[in-house]
Formats: sequence, structure tokens, C-alpha cells
Amino acid sequence: MTKPKVFLTRRWPLACEKRLLDHFDVTLNEDNHPLTPAELKAALRDYDAVLPTVSDALPQEVLSVEPLRCRMLGNFGVGFNHIDLETAKARAITVTNTPDVLTECTADIAMLLLLMAARRASEGERLVRSGQWAGWHPNHLLGTQVTGKTLGLVGFGRIAKAMATKAHFGFGMPILVYAPRPVPIADLERFGARQMESLEALLESSDIVSLHCPGSAANRHLINAERLAMMKPEAILINTARGDLIDSQALIEALRHRHLAAAGLDVYEGEPRLDPDFLTLDNVALLPHLGSATLETRTAMGMKVIDNLEAFFKGAIPTNRVA
Ligand code: 8YV
Repeated sequence: MTKPKVFLTRRWPLACEKRLLDHFDVTLNEDNHPLTPAELKAALRDYDAVLPTVSDALPQEVLSVEPLRCRMLGNFGVGFNHIDLETAKARAITVTNTPDVLTECTADIAMLLLLMAARRASEGERLVRSGQWAGWHPNHLLGTQVTGKTLGLVGFGRIAKAMATKAHFGFGMPILVYAPRPVPIADLERFGARQMESLEALLESSDIVSLHCPGSAANRHLINAERLAMMKPEAILINTARGDLIDSQALIEALRHRHLAAAGLDVYEGEPRLDPDFLTLDNVALLPHLGSATLETRTAMGMKVIDNLEAFFKGAIPTNRVA
């Protein structure tokens, strides 16, 4: 039997590439360059399955390619807002993602950003590296205490719950939750958490707000100028979910005028380009989309994509099917 032809859009951890190469007729993107829409279209035309990442935009225009050979998109990542699911469905392309395996890792990065932003870690490191540190004094780089502060979680899925565990049990933080649907009482009781009646109420009552909802057209600029103005001036905003959840210009204004104390960002509107004004601000900690970036997690993500791929080509419904 001929092996299905599979196209890998970016390089993966070696153990995953090896397993793929053992079981499929695989083409790698040898030099790991970000693919153009034309290259993605060619892959959809020539391969039975394409395995994209967040760096591969697959809107209607790309997925409408003719003739289409691709029957499966095995996304390397839990978020799939870069893939037009409606068009995928209309074109009978099965789409899978990689939940669960990156939960702890992404919550770790949210906690890292929270600590960096609150304790002014980026500013401190820049000072030391620049050779400008003039020595200790009592008012030097005073930040905000994290322990005991109230954490507001926007969204209450797997990553938010992992964040609640770290924050509540590790840092004694009371937890508030905003989620569009009622959260089961038992899920709240685990953290002594309270579900707020509205996003606005959560923003007003939290010392630190961390975003854990999916990126989507409906959630675009969920955090806009009006909602930023509802946050306490000493509050901190963390985003490890998707960049377009926040209106970047509004956040820059709020940070610049100290209507918000600080922010910690791992994701950006239009990444990897980000609004250059962020670079002029000291009170924002900036990471380059590192949420799932550990060897263990990236390996587990690749293995999950392959599990889904194998199920699909055996004629079964892949465990992590999203379309
Ligand atoms: C991934 C992520 O690294 O899984 C996600 O949704 O945002 C990241 O952790 C990226 O999406 C890989 O495609």
C-alpha cells in the first residue's frame, strides 16, 4: 500500500520527525522558512495531509485552491484561529489540534509573565546588561507584590485552570473567573474561585488579569480602550492566548499614561511584527510566543498530531478533531 503524502510546514522536534518519516511519505520544509500563501496552496494541491502551525495562515482564499488533494490538516497547536474552519468543512478537510499536552507549559509562561511584569524583571535585566546598574537602594525598581493579589481569569478552560492552580496554591491568590457560560460549582470550589457576572465586573475587581479565551472574530479586541479604563490603575494585564484579543494601540496608550501599571505579553496582533510603540515602554514584558516552547511539550504536540494523522488514515475519527 502506498503511504499517504504528508507535508510538514515547519521543522519539528527530531523524535517526531523520525516517527513521521517511518510511517508516511513525508516532505519537510528543510530550511524551516515561514511559508508563503503560494507555498501553502501548492502543499494543499499536492499532499494528502498538511501539518501546519500558528505561523501558517489558512484563510478561505488559500483553502479554496484547485485542485485540492489535502484531506487532513493536523494542526501543531491547540489554537486554530489561523485556519478558516468553515471553508475546511465545506471542502471536506478534517482538522485536528493538540489540546492537553501544552496546558501546564502555557500556564507556566503566563505565571512567568505575571511575575516579570509585577516585579519589573525585564527592566532589571536590561539595567544589569547595559552596565548602568548603580547599586542597591531602598526605592530601586519597586514593583508590585504578587502573593495574595486577586487574579482575574478571562476564560476558564484547561490553561486557565492550570493557571488558577499555580496562582492560588503557589501564591495564595484569590481567583475570579469570567466565562460566558456558567462554570460548574465544583470547578470553582477547587480554588475557592468566584464566577463574575460580567467581564466588566472582573476587570474592575482584579489586581491582575490573565487572558485564556480563544482567538476568534467574536473575541477580537475583547480588551479595548473602554474595558482597559475599567481596570485598576495599579493592575497588570497578561496575554498568553492570542494577540488580537487586545486592541494594541489602546493598551499602549493605557501603559504609556499609567492607567494600567504593567502588562506581560507572549502573543501579538500580526505577530511576529508587533506595534513598535511597545518597544518604547518599560512597563511591558515581551516574550516571542513561547507558551508551549519546551522540548517535552513540543514533542508531545508532534506525537499528538501523528496520533490524529494515523487515526485519520486508518479511517477512524481522530481524537482531537475540530472540523
Ligand atoms: C503553539 C499556541 O506553539 O498551541 C497554540 O495554540 O499558541 C502555541 O503554544 C503554536 O500555536 C504552534 O502552532
